[in-house]
Amino acid sequence: MLKGLTFMPQRTVKLVVFAAALILCVYLLRVSTAAKSGVASAPQKRLRSQKNPPAKTPAQPAYAKFNHNVPQHLAQNCDACHKFPTANWKEIHQGKDAYEDITDYPSHPSCLNCHRQQFFKGAQPTICTICHTNPGPRHSSRHPFPNPRELFEPSPKGQSAVSQYEVFFPHDKHEGFFGQMMTRRSATLRYAAFQQSAQPAAPAAPTGCATCHQLYQAQGEAADEYVTPAPKDLKDEDFWLKKGTFMGAPTSHATCFACHTQGGGLKPEPSDCARCHKLSPLDKLTEAQSDFDAKLAANMAIKDKTMLEKWRRRQAGKFRHEWFSHAELKCSDCHKIAEINTASGKGAVVNVLSCGGSGGCHITPTSDEGGALNFEIDQRQAKATFQCTKCHVNEGKKPLPESHSKALAAITKK
Ligand code: HEC
Ligand code: HEC
Ligand code: HEC
Ligand code: HEC
Ligand code: HEC
Ligand code: HEC
Ligand code: HEC
Ligand code: HEC
Repeated sequence: MLKGLTFMPQRTVKLVVFAAALILCVYLLRVSTAAKSGVASAPQKRLRSQKNPPAKTPAQPAYAKFNHNVPQHLAQNCDACHKFPTANWKEIHQGKDAYEDITDYPSHPSCLNCHRQQFFKGAQPTICTICHTNPGPRHSSRHPFPNPRELFEPSPKGQSAVSQYEVFFPHDKHEGFFGQMMTRRSATLRYAAFQQSAQPAAPAAPTGCATCHQLYQAQGEAADEYVTPAPKDLKDEDFWLKKGTFMGAPTSHATCFACHTQGGGLKPEPSDCARCHKLSPLDKLTEAQSDFDAKLAANMAIKDKTMLEKWRRRQAGKFRHEWFSHAELKCSDCHKIAEINTASGKGAVVNVLSCGGSGGCHITPTSDEGGALNFEIDQRQAKATFQCTKCHVNEGKKPLPESHSKALAAITKK
């Protein structure tokens, strides 16, 4: 800390900064001792770790951003930092559906043991900005915590933040409950009945998907089908994203914590973060599904983060859930419950065969019957540079994948 200050030109400035830093130290000590957490409550322990600062990695890390993927962070249990529930849950969730939740940042003791150096660096240490909007000895206001997303994502920090995790929701293990968990209350009742009957929940018809999945920004009755104003001269073959293309998914703990309650015995309990959150296998900033076109998305002026995230994961970018002949099908006509793996980071992997439907929609026994895949495969065979644009934005420039020729063969055989 002092080393940095000796570069300051004027003695007075030096003194002022030093005094400010001292006040800060006193504050931080007070805060960390006041907090109930056991992580860094022993003062002797803190002094010792001050002599042994964390080992330097070759590239000087940027302390403006928290990263779970550091060996010393990974080595700790989630609850070394995330204490369930946080003190502010009642302010975040109000009314009769309020529930205990994790809605605030970890507090100082969960970091201080290892990061004294960064916490006491200069008058406005960078590390504070991870959690605080305007850090200082007197400013404790914080960015919204990433959960719930509705509050976080519109905030300046939330707009650019990228989650390091995928949510793990094993659909197959919950199938018997779908349809009954319309609200927090009915989910709780349903689970209570299940516990009493001592019988496995009978797999109900999977019609309850709507509890958790609704069209994302549906067109509904609105006149304009596009998510942003389309150019007037948009040609038939030009792509412009439409409302109701994507299917939404849970953005909070509301549904999950109706059954998975703290002390309720059903694992995972809310404090078992790691059983529902798995580190993403992807570097989400760079590794995108290739049917996303960043330039086109920028042209369309799409700012909506959720929409961009969903598009990035698509393989069939143009598929629109709200299109009436898609909407009248059952979810399970295209999505096989046993095959959904929400932690893969790959999005909904839908077999192209399901585009054939039962009556041959986009894949028909003969090309004359109008199947789009038949048509595009014919075109591709006639001309190697033909780009498939019926279902794809970008992906249709690539070589024909085996899955497509197999799907065609399966239907033409019938
Ligand atoms: C060393 C402390 C620490 C540990 C251990 C830790 N976290 Fe965090 N976690 C944080 C901090 C700090 C933030 C806020 C980061 C931010 O918003 O920039 C955070 C944010 C998050 C977020 C929201 C941001 C994102 O990337 O999605 C999730 C989810 C999360 N933690 C899950 C977990 C899980 C699951 C575990 C255990 C496997 C865990 N954390 C362990 C400190 C920790
Ligand atoms: C058990 C020790 C330990 C604890 C507790 C701990 N960290 Fe770290 N942290 C490290 C080590 C070691 C590194 C890697 C070397 C370094 O950057 O100093 C690191 C790196 C970081 C980085 C740099 C990330 C990057 O991309 O390289 C940030 C930011 C950070 N920690 C913030 C925190 C915050 C905030 C907390 C509390 C919520 C916390 N750490 C808790 C040991 C710890
Ligand atoms: C990992 C998130 C995190 C980081 C990093 C962090 N804080 Fe905090 N800070 C909190 C939380 C959470 C609270 C609320 C009190 C609590 O629960 O400990 C808080 C409380 C405070 C308070 C009010 C304390 C009181 O007396 O109630 C001040 C002042 C403060 N922080 C300043 C700082 C400064 C300065 C830094 C950087 C040196 C910093 N914080 C770094 C999360 C953080
Ligand atoms: C006609 C086939 C079809 C039907 C019916 C269908 N989907 Fe999809 N769904 C898809 C395709 C195709 C994708 C995109 C897959 C890709 O490109 O990787 C998708 C993607 C998704 C996604 C990921 C987000 C997104 O939109 O990209 C979710 C969640 C989803 N579907 C849920 C549902 C639910 C719930 C239902 C029933 C209400 C349903 N789907 C009905 C074909 C269908
Ligand atoms: C209606 C009650 C209910 C709701 C709501 C619910 N669950 Fe579950 N969950 C269960 C039951 C019952 C089991 C045990 C199933 C089993 O062991 O076969 C379970 C098990 C799990 C498991 C452990 C599976 C394993 O392989 O060990 C995870 C993870 C999980 N749920 C995540 C979630 C998430 C995420 C949500 C919210 C999106 C959620 N659950 C909502 C009842 C529920
Ligand atoms: C029963 C499963 C379950 C448990 C346990 C659980 N979560 Fe979540 N969490 C979810 C689901 C489902 C969502 C909403 C989906 C989403 O936002 O991706 C979510 C969303 C979040 C978000 C906001 C979105 C994001 O990924 O940044 C944060 C932060 C978060 N959880 C942190 C935690 C922490 C910390 C714990 C442990 C104290 C925890 N969760 C325990 C299932 C769970
Ligand atoms: C209790 C809530 C819940 C119910 C009910 C539910 N899902 Fe999901 N579903 C989730 C969560 C949580 C995710 C992960 C979302 C994410 O990663 O953003 C998900 C993701 C998906 C995905 C995309 C997979 C991915 O990796 O992105 C598909 C497809 C899907 N669900 C289909 C269905 C279908 C079909 C049904 C009904 C049979 C259904 N879901 C019922 C919670 C639910
Ligand atoms: C009726 C819609 C449809 C048409 C037409 C279509 N595709 Fe696809 N395509 C899909 C779906 C759905 C997937 C994801 C699932 C799969 O591969 O089975 C996909 C995936 C792909 C992939 C990624 C495969 C992978 O494994 O990474 C490529 C490349 C691709 N298509 C190229 C093409 C080409 C080239 C054509 C034209 C000859 C074409 N597609 C026509 C729906 C379509």
